[in-house]
Amino acid sequence: MITGHEIREKFLGYFEKHGHKRVHSSPLLPANDPTLLFTNAGMNQFKDLFTGVEKRDYKRAVSAQKCIRAGGKHNDLDEVGRTARHHTFFEMLGNFSFGDYFKREAIRFAWDFLVNELKLDVNRLWFTIFEGDSEIPEDSDARRYWIEVGASPERILGFGRKDNFWQMGETGPCGPCSEIHYYMGDEPENPLKNRAELVNAPQGDQTIEIWNLVFMQFERIEAEKKGIYYLKPLPAPSVDTGMGLERITAVLQGVKSNYETDLIKPIVDFTATIAGKSYEADTIEGFAMRVIADHARATAFAIADGILPGNEGRNYVLRKIMRRAIYQAREHLGLKEPFLYKVCDFVIDLMKKAYPELEAQRDFVLKMTRLEEERFGKTLTVGLEKLKEVFGSNKSVEFKELARLYDTFGVPRDLIRVKLIEQGHQMSEEEFNERFDEALQEIQNNSEIGKTSRKSAIKPIYQELAEKISPSVFRGYDTTRIDGTKVTALIRDEKEVQELKEAEEGLIVLEETPFYAEAGGQVGDTGILVSQDAKVKVLDTFSPIQGLILHKSRVEKGTIRLGDLLTAIVDEEKRDATRRNHTATHLLHAALKEVLGSHVKQAGSVVAPDFLRFDYTHYQPLTDEEIKEIEDLVNYYILRNEPVRTDIMQLEEAISSGAVALFGEKYGSQVRVLSVGDGKFSKELCGGTHVRATGDIGIFKIISDEAIAAGTRRIRAITGFEAIKRFQEDEKIIEKATESLKADRRGFVEILEKLQDELKRLRRENEDLRLKIITSATGPVQNGDVAREIKGVKVLTKVVEGLDKGAMRHLSDTLLARLKSGVVILAKRDDGKVAFIVRVSEDLTDKVKAGKIINEIAPVVAGRGGGRDDMAEGGGSLTEKLEEALEKSYKVVESMLSS
Ligand code: ALA
Repeated sequence: MITGHEIREKFLGYFEKHGHKRVHSSPLLPANDPTLLFTNAGMNQFKDLFTGVEKRDYKRAVSAQKCIRAGGKHNDLDEVGRTARHHTFFEMLGNFSFGDYFKREAIRFAWDFLVNELKLDVNRLWFTIFEGDSEIPEDSDARRYWIEVGASPERILGFGRKDNFWQMGETGPCGPCSEIHYYMGDEPENPLKNRAELVNAPQGDQTIEIWNLVFMQFERIEAEKKGIYYLKPLPAPSVDTGMGLERITAVLQGVKSNYETDLIKPIVDFTATIAGKSYEADTIEGFAMRVIADHARATAFAIADGILPGNEGRNYVLRKIMRRAIYQAREHLGLKEPFLYKVCDFVIDLMKKAYPELEAQRDFVLKMTRLEEERFGKTLTVGLEKLKEVFGSNKSVEFKELARLYDTFGVPRDLIRVKLIEQGHQMSEEEFNERFDEALQEIQNNSEIGKTSRKSAIKPIYQELAEKISPSVFRGYDTTRIDGTKVTALIRDEKEVQELKEAEEGLIVLEETPFYAEAGGQVGDTGILVSQDAKVKVLDTFSPIQGLILHKSRVEKGTIRLGDLLTAIVDEEKRDATRRNHTATHLLHAALKEVLGSHVKQAGSVVAPDFLRFDYTHYQPLTDEEIKEIEDLVNYYILRNEPVRTDIMQLEEAISSGAVALFGEKYGSQVRVLSVGDGKFSKELCGGTHVRATGDIGIFKIISDEAIAAGTRRIRAITGFEAIKRFQEDEKIIEKATESLKADRRGFVEILEKLQDELKRLRRENEDLRLKIITSATGPVQNGDVAREIKGVKVLTKVVEGLDKGAMRHLSDTLLARLKSGVVILAKRDDGKVAFIVRVSEDLTDKVKAGKIINEIAPVVAGRGGGRDDMAEGGGSLTEKLEEALEKSYKVVESMLSS
């Protein structure tokens, strides 16, 4: 049997022999091509050669190209595992002519290779050509050339744009194409089976496309008017072909599915071994194994080429692929621990000879894969349970419930869709997205977060002023000091005044100000205002109405009058500390999304000089590891010292560039967008003040994480000098502890633990001793002279002092053991309360029930109780009736024994 690797080599060798330059696959991460998510065809790396932008010293090339088709124009993700021939990752064999040979030779080469080299049965082959439309005529040349090489005319079929016109994406080189299809069925001689209708049939695994010959003639270009495209002829007609290696391997190895070829089957089998199951194609487990095998290939190859799972663009698509694999393993194979990295390891072994870059990146691939598995594993545990609840109870699905799974529990929306399809609710991605988004909007509109309004109350005087005076201008993004800014209004006790005298408090409005007014969680600036003979302390700054910035102030010295020119100086130290916390808040937001998942949303924040507080949506407390991961990530951003930039943009432009906007926040049409590291690390709409580069933050430390409402949590954190101060304090504490314990920094925790154990042991010993004293004081119980005999059953009642619950139970154990058979009732009087414990030995519980006894005697002391047949507890508040209650217990036992 010819192996997949041999077929690849045969193809490359054949075209090399015919004057083609052998070119290594380009990486899956498209170079300089933002129009592409992943490299998706052999021609990608030659794009500029077709359009004539670039020239090389060869005009013919051959390659085996790594491709991923998931997301974007060519998207096969949903088909994976269901059909025999769709993949996210696959290899494309291709020969190319850049203005050299054209249709005739391309068709000759293809025929020669398939029929003479690979010896395919011509009676299984079908050929398609472009049938023409209003813009481009029928490709009668292609038809002619196929007949010329020996194809029979009735096996040449015409199709429209959808099948026989190929374009790389919305823009780029394109042209009519001619495809070769192969009948995979068992009866090639039977014209009813091996028939034209199966070519390009929907869902068909019977007759499959194996090779596409594209006759590149045009470049598709977007006109200045967005959304309008036109075709421009290429400088020279060219050829681009693509044959799926996995498909041609299936053909040559005589198997019906790509998953049965030696390129993929070993991965399926390996997955089966890990799961401790055997592979059966037609089961849900078999389906899961195929998905995993495919997705592991995509994962290993993508990460090796530098594409990491993430929350945007291609990184998000990779994350989707990986999470689908993890989901399949968990749901259908019972694999709860990280496993995908092992499958990737296996993929690397299988493919490293053809793609040495895999071996070079092995450690990185495994590490990244495992990390993603660990991260997602936690979400998945909760998510699967919730999914089961939703799907378990109802047949019809409520999108609102699905959206809540995503919103509250972080179940990835893609998984929700996978599950929907699994449950038989077929629906296109578009329809799903539309309904899902609608439901999400609805629940978020109703949530607390959507409702919060932080606007300070608008008083009539503010309204009046805002209408009367020209708006105050904020200059504080660039400066913390303005010399000579005019006082335009003064307010005291909610009235306009002409002056503020020494020791008076009031609100000052300035023409221009460097003081930041509280907004977006960032606190208002403080500082001073000075004139020639006056000095004012600014205690806070806020802006109740757009355009009106109020400085809450106290005059320290002199008098401030309307129209005075002042120097305004912001407390720079505080402002700097606030900046650090504000930028850190953005980094924290990004890190939370990265570590916990994209369901995390900001639900409020406070940015002060000495701390930051960040409220966010998440369904469970952070683990120690998560906290560490988040801190590490933020500090990583900080230590990279990435530039922090602000841009003013149109709102739509900002949103479409991926900037994070806060839900329920109102934005004007022009917005300020804050990007960290060119938007790589974080990009958010924000009006606040920030550091110039992340290094200014210094250091970041989370100090608490707590729940503030169902599904909403709050993190407090510190940065800069505050964090340093904290570390210094911690250091002092450790120093003291080590000193008094006479231990070193690493050893003292151990010593503490030992001391605690010792303390516990001593406490227990002490308790035991006390019990011994009490029980010995109880006298010779074994002789029965303290226990009363009721109808042959020993009943011992006793009032004890100073014992806690545990000790009482312990004592009752001891006494019951001494009686061997009988009833023990202990009572204690403490703090104006009575407590009972009733015990009945096993042999008597048929007749004498502890629970019933307590129900009878507790009411005597105005209380209640309950318990099992052999042990019950209770109590009451009438301490003076304790003896009466015990006396009653004898009667209760007696009546039980007589019934
Ligand atoms: N670029 C062509 C395809 O991907 C060959 O089908």
